[in-house]
Amino acid sequence: MKLLEDRIKEDGIVLEGNVLKVNSFLNHQIDPDLMAAIGQEFAKLFKDQGITRILTVESSGIAPAIMVGYALHVPVVFARKKKSSTLNEAVYSAEVFSYTKNVLNTISVDQKFLTASDKVLIIDDFLANGQAVLGLIEICRQAKADIVGAGIVVEKSFQKGADLIKKAGVHLESLARIEAFVDGQVKFVEE
Ligand code: G4P
Ligand code: NA
Ligand code: NA
Repeated sequence: MKLLEDRIKEDGIVLEGNVLKVNSFLNHQIDPDLMAAIGQEFAKLFKDQGITRILTVESSGIAPAIMVGYALHVPVVFARKKKSSTLNEAVYSAEVFSYTKNVLNTISVDQKFLTASDKVLIIDDFLANGQAVLGLIEICRQAKADIVGAGIVVEKSFQKGADLIKKAGVHLESLARIEAFVDGQVKFVEE
């Protein structure tokens, strides 16, 4: 998606450890017009597939996910990283290890917001090692929901997440695919 790649080139900052900082439009301050365009792009890529729900994980997945849900007119569910204060609710859950942050989170979704009759589109902001998306796939499988695909805003193609998702049998669409960071510049995968 050219609009997104241009924005990453313009405003993204390459940090040490192969991390792209995009907190001026995606991860802290959010550009709603760019998010709306992202929502339209995913809606086009996954049209006519009978999607009934969007699934993401808090916090940074929520902004793009809600715009996809708005474009497709379906509800958006985000997996929570902290246990809800309401005890005794039935949830689907998965363990997600973050290599970047070196923490293990349990993510969970209330069983009433994901069912066996759902056709789910998973959305997330970044795809690195793929653990967050694999956790969301696991949650869909617990619910016996169909997974239509996974839509990622920024894929770091040099990390293993994209392969892991494809190996899990899930159709993957990423709007920007980063091949490498070279001398502080972003090099995108050539189509
Ligand atoms: P994984 O889910 O693909 O395995 O990612 P990983 O554990 O490596 O990354 C942990 C967190 O860091 C995730 O956010 C992920 O979205 C984010 N992340 C990974 N690589 C980058 C990057 O290059 N730039 C930015 N800006 N973020 C990156 P999270 O812990 O789920 O946090 P949040 O959604 O609450 O922000
Ligand atoms: Na995220
Ligand atoms: Na993040």
